[in-house]
Amino acid sequence: MAAPLDIIVGIQWGDEGKGRVVDLYARDYDIIARFGGGDNAGHSIEVGDQKLALRIVPSGVLQEKTKLFIGSGAVVSLTGLTEELTTLRSLGIDVSRISISDRAHIVFPYHAALDRLSEAQRGDAKIGTTGRGIGPAYVDKAGRLGITFGDLARPETLASKVRTALLARRPLFAGVESLPREEDIIGEALAFGKAIGSHIVDGVAYIHDARERGESILAEGAQGTLLDVGFGTYPYVTSSHTIAGGACIGLGVGPTAVRKTIGIAKAYCTRVGGGPFPSELHDATGERLRTAGKEFGVVTGRPRRCGWFDAVAARYAGRINGLTEVVITKLDVLSGFDELKIVRGYRRDGAPIGMSAVDAQPIELEMETLPGWQEDIRNVRHIRDLPPNAQAYVRLLGEAIGVPVAAVSVGPERSAFAT
Ligand code: GDP
Ligand code: IMO
Ligand code: MG
Repeated sequence: MAAPLDIIVGIQWGDEGKGRVVDLYARDYDIIARFGGGDNAGHSIEVGDQKLALRIVPSGVLQEKTKLFIGSGAVVSLTGLTEELTTLRSLGIDVSRISISDRAHIVFPYHAALDRLSEAQRGDAKIGTTGRGIGPAYVDKAGRLGITFGDLARPETLASKVRTALLARRPLFAGVESLPREEDIIGEALAFGKAIGSHIVDGVAYIHDARERGESILAEGAQGTLLDVGFGTYPYVTSSHTIAGGACIGLGVGPTAVRKTIGIAKAYCTRVGGGPFPSELHDATGERLRTAGKEFGVVTGRPRRCGWFDAVAARYAGRINGLTEVVITKLDVLSGFDELKIVRGYRRDGAPIGMSAVDAQPIELEMETLPGWQEDIRNVRHIRDLPPNAQAYVRLLGEAIGVPVAAVSVGPERSAFAT
């Protein structure tokens, strides 16, 4: 029987602390695989006073023996990948363990330019993207204008595909921004292809041969459930399937392969960019969460919007992902509050509504208030040793999501988990 595939996904709007949890779990798996998104992700792992911010390389990279795979569902910038490999090499990390699927799509600088253009055209209704060209790269993939890592080994195919893609894009740039020359794009891509060629593999054979050899795989989600293109707060979403189902599509495995789906939830909520955020706090409490939680984007440095834990959104995410367990992160950030709140229900015009009905229109929130705790919990390593009010808070979150709490993260340090 083939070895199991487990999946980790964020269940809010991203930045739940997935990188750290993957780093914790990685020692139990042979392969850590990113299945979607690109360098819009920023997954950080803190070791002592060093902070490693990974954008596309899976967060198992600090486990020396673990193999790392970037799956077919990802979109990857050649410069971004090369820079990340250089950084990792300079830290003495063996990057020969990193493989990228031949079916993963390339994000070119013209995708980033299209991202900027599209945001400017939207004006006040802009999405607030990371500006990395992720949306346009997925548009090209679905529009059959994309270029894959496999194409880098076929110069003629590559050249013809770049020409077709640019021809389609030229009218969009007319009078706004000049497109780079075809030959330059092709030449640069081929040069990158040579430099990273040893990392490019047949993605389907890689995953399935590994599974048949008995190697276990942990699929690492990027972004979060509420940023999913199908089930997030559309159109304020990213352009990929960030939910657990995305792992099957992004790695090319059937749903029968999946054993566990582990959701990651922050003990409160944050969001970067535009779009609905029912529990957002625009007051001193929101500011306090931002300061205590150091809520500033890894990729863009933007301040993250902050708010209370939202049980409606969490339950929605629990269902869509088929979660089997959840890890709660950043509980330490809530220490010192006299009371905490969570969102229990949404109403519009007095009638209850669900997550799917959340859009730009105002909604009323049903809130529950809970007593806080004053103790510093950063050195606690067992959930049963947390202050009683913290234990009750964690229990409530697990019940709200509908699955057991497997671990609680109580600080940014690598080992700061209570189980
Ligand atoms: P990801 O995108 O889901 O991997 O999350 P990010 O790395 O973008 O954001 C999470 C941030 O919170 C990082 O700066 C982490 O170092 C930090 N962090 C993660 N877990 C904890 C925790 O339990 N407590 C505190 N105080 N910080 C944490
Ligand atoms: P990780 O993996 C938080 C958000 C952007 C924007 C929207 C669309 O670190 O959790 P995009 O550039 O993807 O077209 O932007 O999605 N976004 C994220 N927010 N964490 C992320 O990744 C994100 N990746 C994209 O801020 O609102
Ligand atoms: Mg992040």
